[in-house]
Amino acid sequence: MNQFKHSGHLSHILLLTLLALTTFLLTGCSQNQHRRIVRIGHNQSVNHPTHIALTAFQDYINHNLGDRYIVEVYPSELLGSQTDMVQLTQTGAIDYCIASNAILETFSKNYEIFNLPYLFASADSYHHAMDDPQITDPIFTATQKAGFTAVTWLDAGTRNFYTVKKPIESPSDLKGLKIRVQQSPTNIEMMRLLGGSATPMGFGDVYTALQSNIIDGAENNEMALTDNGHGDVCKYYSYDMHQMVPDILIGNNAFIQGLPEEDRVVFEEGYRLINQIQRKEWIKAVDTAREKAASQQKVRFLYPDQAPFVKACAPLHHTVLENNPNIRPIYDAIQQYNQLYPTITE
Ligand code: GCU
Repeated sequence: MNQFKHSGHLSHILLLTLLALTTFLLTGCSQNQHRRIVRIGHNQSVNHPTHIALTAFQDYINHNLGDRYIVEVYPSELLGSQTDMVQLTQTGAIDYCIASNAILETFSKNYEIFNLPYLFASADSYHHAMDDPQITDPIFTATQKAGFTAVTWLDAGTRNFYTVKKPIESPSDLKGLKIRVQQSPTNIEMMRLLGGSATPMGFGDVYTALQSNIIDGAENNEMALTDNGHGDVCKYYSYDMHQMVPDILIGNNAFIQGLPEEDRVVFEEGYRLINQIQRKEWIKAVDTAREKAASQQKVRFLYPDQAPFVKACAPLHHTVLENNPNIRPIYDAIQQYNQLYPTITE
């Protein structure tokens, strides 16, 4: 069952309604008669850590600033795919959305860095780097011209290959297989280097594509198996651990910058809350997903030697750094965290 598939017609009507509402609200706001509705879209289910964290943000803002704002959270691609939602955030039709870092590299090359395979030596290194504003600020603020800014990050675990029929034990097993990747040039190049055939598509289309044999597999964290049902179709999940790609909460610039100072402080506290709650929930959610995938969906977890995967992907680091020397200091700072936290702990 694909709970994320939505009819184009329905989403069209939804968007039109939304735009009409936005116009109404903007007029209302200027007359100070209405509370400002703040809309946040994301593509996960209501059980997902991301939704739980955004709901906490909703409660926090509604509790502290409820006389001026009403936060509404739209899960499950109700407002369209992540790419659709980024565009809606750019234009201000909605105020925030969660986008995978993967798709943001088409808005600023700086985002390419977090899409690099085997960038982080461990989950600890990843978390410390993502918590360091010296690393994230130059990236999070790189999309000023595109109309949005990143306000915090969320954990999306480690991405691994999973397949319908053929277990992946080494890169050579990917040969001839069509593997869904996110819509990002870095991911497409990663698949090319690993020898598979990259099939970029939105998250909501993956289940049907797997089920109808349009693709042979995909790559994602463990929650995709359970929360998105991919483990009903794919019975092999291989811990090659090729990426730790964060999810990013982005906000419309005009909205964020237009917030009065005293409100901005509360919103910023709210962003911190999202990050803290989501990460705490994430640890529990991954454990539950692994357990459920193994016991109920009968997914087999495999632990291939990572070395050949790392070796095959290595050229991508050079390419990305050569194409964008601006990110070299960030890359070097991440290497320092890798030295401090070298062990894979998750
Ligand atoms: C993860 C991630 C999402 C992303 C999805 C994908 O679930 O959290 O933000 O959209 O992967 O592979 O597209």
